[in-house]
Amino acid sequence: MARVLVCGGAGYIGSHAVRALRRAGHAVVVLDDLSAGHAVAVPSDVPLVRAGMHEVAAVESALARHAIDAVMHFAAWLDVGASVRDPLGYYHNNVTGSLAVLTAMQRAGVRVLVFSSTCATYGEPERVPMDESLTPRPINAYGETKLAIERALPHLATADGLRYVALRYFNAAGAEPDGSIGEDHWPEIHLIPRAIEAATGGRPLTIFGDDYPTPDGTCLRDYIHVTDLADAHVRALDVLMAGGASGIYNVGTGQPHSVRQVIDTVSRVVGQPVQWQMGVRREGDPSALYAASDRITQALGWHPRHPDLETIVQHAWAWHRSHPRGYDDRPDRP
Ligand code: UFG
Repeated sequence: MARVLVCGGAGYIGSHAVRALRRAGHAVVVLDDLSAGHAVAVPSDVPLVRAGMHEVAAVESALARHAIDAVMHFAAWLDVGASVRDPLGYYHNNVTGSLAVLTAMQRAGVRVLVFSSTCATYGEPERVPMDESLTPRPINAYGETKLAIERALPHLATADGLRYVALRYFNAAGAEPDGSIGEDHWPEIHLIPRAIEAATGGRPLTIFGDDYPTPDGTCLRDYIHVTDLADAHVRALDVLMAGGASGIYNVGTGQPHSVRQVIDTVSRVVGQPVQWQMGVRREGDPSALYAASDRITQALGWHPRHPDLETIVQHAWAWHRSHPRGYDDRPDRP
């Protein structure tokens, strides 16, 4: 049993990791500034430290006060398009903020980290499926900020004995199958929840381009169930706590799905057509991203339990149907 500080544990992937950690018997403390996260997504018996990751003293004090053994660091800005328009904001939040967490860890003597990275570190990949031997060449500031932290980790390992796993997520989607927690970003930008919104009378969806070199012209992505991501985090933690090696791993199903295929799946699952219009490419979007995840299977014994898109969309839809306004905790939300 480990005592784990989950930075960003009130957010989408972090809140699912909190559930998975507790199911595995670990003790959890959440640190979140609630700028994007939701207090109600944190179980009522989990301590919630309301502080920003930039606040080194607050993070350090949480680490010491709760006798933390390991950190899972989810807190970040994640909008690829916004990162192209506001690179400084992204560097400040994702790089400076993560360095603050690492500084607090160093001061508190906490030397185990599971870091949320992304397949956006690869950029436009030389080949697909993508494995970890590809040279990272991000094409947006978001990917650059995650890569910057990944690249700092081995130096901290050498200097300070940090042991880490960085998980390069593909496209997180779906929700806890029991419908208790799910995805609630506002405004929502991600394809599956946007398509659900567009199938249920909300804003129509704009497809960001159909002139990509893919079978139907729309981008290919690898949608990974959020509970499978959470499971990868718990496995990474367990291996590190047992003295296992640091590493960087892809976490995806290896199945590419086009934007049009996602729209068709959402229409089928919801039982109503997704209202859409064709738009132009979104800056910073690579044409095809899907994973070879053999390395994490070998190192951590990880396999996706919900690899099919239909199940992912069903769980996303079940969450949306029972929570049409998400957690309903944002007064600014229409
Ligand atoms: N898309 C649309 N219309 C929309 C929203 C998305 O056509 O309204 C398309 C995008 O162009 C992309 C695909 O649907 O081709 C998926 O887009 P998302 O915004 O759902 O996800 P991204 O692939 O852009 O980004 C997500 C996460 C990032 C992560 C990345 C890795 O937000 O944090 O996956 O691929 F880095």
